[in-house]
Amino acid sequence: MKILITGGLGVLGAEVAHQSIAQGHKVAVLDIAENTARIDPIRNEVELIHADISENAKVQAIFQKIKPEQVVHFAAVLGPVSEEEPEKSFHANVAGTRNVFEAARLCGTRQALFASSTGTFGAAGGAFPNDQSPQRPGIIYGWEKLYGEGLVSWYRNRGKLDCRGLRYSQVAGPSCDNVCWLWASGMIGDAILHGRHQSAGANPDSACGFLYIRDAGRAALELLAAPADRVSGTYNLNGLPGVVYASDLEAALKQRYPGFSVTYAGPAGGRGEFRGYDDSRACRDWNWKPEWSTLDAALDQFERDLRELPERFAMKTKAHS
Ligand SMILES: NC(=O)c1ccc[n+]([C@@H]2O[C@H](COP(=O)([O-])OP(=O)(O)OC[C@H]3O[C@@H](n4cnc5c(N)ncnc54)[C@H](O)[C@@H]3O)[C@@H](O)[C@H]2O)c1
Repeated sequence: MKILITGGLGVLGAEVAHQSIAQGHKVAVLDIAENTARIDPIRNEVELIHADISENAKVQAIFQKIKPEQVVHFAAVLGPVSEEEPEKSFHANVAGTRNVFEAARLCGTRQALFASSTGTFGAAGGAFPNDQSPQRPGIIYGWEKLYGEGLVSWYRNRGKLDCRGLRYSQVAGPSCDNVCWLWASGMIGDAILHGRHQSAGANPDSACGFLYIRDAGRAALELLAAPADRVSGTYNLNGLPGVVYASDLEAALKQRYPGFSVTYAGPAGGRGEFRGYDDSRACRDWNWKPEWSTLDAALDQFERDLRELPERFAMKTKAHS
């Protein structure tokens, strides 16, 4: 299979690139970034295209040249940056997503996968959002992702392109602390490597869904491989059941790494606003099953990946930057 991964130099895109190469697929990565660290171990096996998805003519030309059979569309400006730079975010997350899907349709791509977010729910999603919960985002990033989910439905309903979506909870793993809102990975990485952590994104009552990076990448490929008559639209996707609270994660890390300390500088937010994330439709429709479904198992794997595969997770670059 020939797979084009937009945002393939980022956390999730690079993970899918690694897993796709391991499965024998041909992989092209499109990204606006220059830093190739996350794909350096597979650099010779990947076609790398430097481009901005908001530039429609270029995107169309790239797709016509590559003619991917599948597109994994992960390029995006993430939440905290979207709040600071809404125009940049609009160009990437709204116009760019439309450009990618339309280019895929025009060049005959079979399937496209879109990464959405828990941020599409906002407070209206309630304490335990499922795939039918109301979506009223409180942040611009959430509205942009909701537009992307709308495009997934629109292309599917008109039979134009087999689009599928994943509404990821917080992805965790070595160097997955690409923005401060993704606070769990930074805390874990610092507990293992440095013995202390300052959290810019969390307070002790902060809660997040928690999906280990390897599961997050595998889910993308499994959803694309699922039979068309079994899947529809965009799916909630989680790893650990329920949520992880920052104070509970801190306590678990202190037990593992005695002497570990955390200081918090994240925005205030109350315990109980978000208590779980229901991905049962993914489990039912395409047999989603996380491999890392307990905090202990995820922490074990995190430490193994960080210590044994630093290049695979771009840790060297991070430590020296
Ligand atoms: N990491 C998470 O916990 C999480 C949770 C929910 C959803 N998501 C979504 O998953 C996808 C991947 O997230 P990630 O954590 O890997 O983020 P990331 O920031 O690590 O990767 C995104 C990549 O997109 C690229 N990009 C941004 N604007 C671009 C543009 N205009 N043209 C081309 N490339 C551009 C960036 O350079 C970056 O490499 C995103 O769509 C994100 O919204 C991530």
